[in-house]
Amino acid sequence: VIDIRALHKKTGAFTYDPGFTSTASCSSKITFIDGDKGILLYRGYPIEQVAEKCDFLEACYLLLNGELPDGREMKEFVNSITQHTLVHEQLTHFFNGFRRDAHPMAILVGVIGAMSAFYHESMDVKDEEFRKLSAIRLIAKMPTIVAMCHKYSTGLPFMFPKNSLGYSENFMRMLHGTPCDEYLPNPVLTRALDRILILHADHEQNASTSTVRLAGSSGANPYACVAAGIACLWGAAHGGANEAVLLMLEEIGDVSRIDQYIKRAKDKEDSFKLMGFGHRVYKNFDPRAILMRQTCHEVLNELGLHDDKLFKLAMQLEKIALEDEYFIAKKLYPNVDFYSGIVLRALGIPTDLFTAIFAMARTVGWIAQWDEMITDSEQKIGRPRQLYKGAAKRDVVPIANR
Ligand code: ACO
Repeated sequence: VIDIRALHKKTGAFTYDPGFTSTASCSSKITFIDGDKGILLYRGYPIEQVAEKCDFLEACYLLLNGELPDGREMKEFVNSITQHTLVHEQLTHFFNGFRRDAHPMAILVGVIGAMSAFYHESMDVKDEEFRKLSAIRLIAKMPTIVAMCHKYSTGLPFMFPKNSLGYSENFMRMLHGTPCDEYLPNPVLTRALDRILILHADHEQNASTSTVRLAGSSGANPYACVAAGIACLWGAAHGGANEAVLLMLEEIGDVSRIDQYIKRAKDKEDSFKLMGFGHRVYKNFDPRAILMRQTCHEVLNELGLHDDKLFKLAMQLEKIALEDEYFIAKKLYPNVDFYSGIVLRALGIPTDLFTAIFAMARTVGWIAQWDEMITDSEQKIGRPRQLYKGAAKRDVVPIANR
């Protein structure tokens, strides 16, 4: 590792690294990834163990505080989350300003950004108590708001949170339930959603987290920063991939057409990429994809959907791609989103809500990273340099003479 900041001070040198492929923008104690070995640790704990032994709120506590909670700490944390699940009544009016067919991510960017107008104390980013309160508010309200995005698009009434339920169960009820009938949660499906949330909770300096850090480096409030993160997550190369995978599978439609799409993915003249394949850091396998694949089987078994056409298609696509020389040479493996879309679909979640669910999960990571950045004395305002390739200095000729 070269400390380029020190080298810059001494010699004026700086690096050219579009896409930050080999530049660390910060130091962090939250998440560790070894892309070659397929290792992902949350605060030192392997993702496999966190996914198996913890629920999502425990993982949130771990990411925010650095340690797993004991029974008392967990109870207090859950209490503080449940106290904040309701959204301000004024905020609910925001929805009416959107078209019913607006993409949920478009609504989410707006509504989360608007939260800064409701919690003025969050502007004081140097105050630890306010930072903690903002973290709790964001984690608590995100499921309520994501469920509202869905209800708004379908024209159904918003569901209030029911605080006796767990985090994922509550979300499923707000999403699928109506005031007319009691929602009966299925523990296998609730656990699957919880697992999706755990697996997406943090992933070090990915594009959206870096966006949150960059926005926050100017001292912007956490709601505005998270709104920026949501905007970045939306893209198909990042969080939009889970939605893009499903759309791609539907477009392929039949096992007989897989070869045609593999051929397109390899063709450099064609911009088509196999969605859900490849990762900037994982060049062997994505450990989250393995856990997600297992969850996918559990959910399809529970629902008796092993013969699901899309799932069979996905399995066959994975098999063919993994045996293909191009994919082997470029180290392209299925990432977590290759399977999460299939699971979300089986949970009855509409495709255009997939990325919003990712945002719900990643909120804790964004806010933990934002908090770490605020308290890091090494951190300065984010201000990348550039390699200027434009015109050399020249004089303006008055318009009449041009
Ligand atoms: N299908 C076909 N070819 C691919 C794919 C793919 N899915 N992914 C990468 N490649 C090729 C590239 O064309 C490139 O080829 P080249 O060397 O001939 O130029 C090579 O593999 C390296 O890929 P890059 O795009 O340079 O790798 P980068 O690290 O910049 O991008 C990314 C990683 C964005 C994830 C990319 O693999 C991709 O677009 N995948 C599909 C979208 C996706 O699944 N995104 C989810 C990421 S995980 C997440 O956000 C939770």
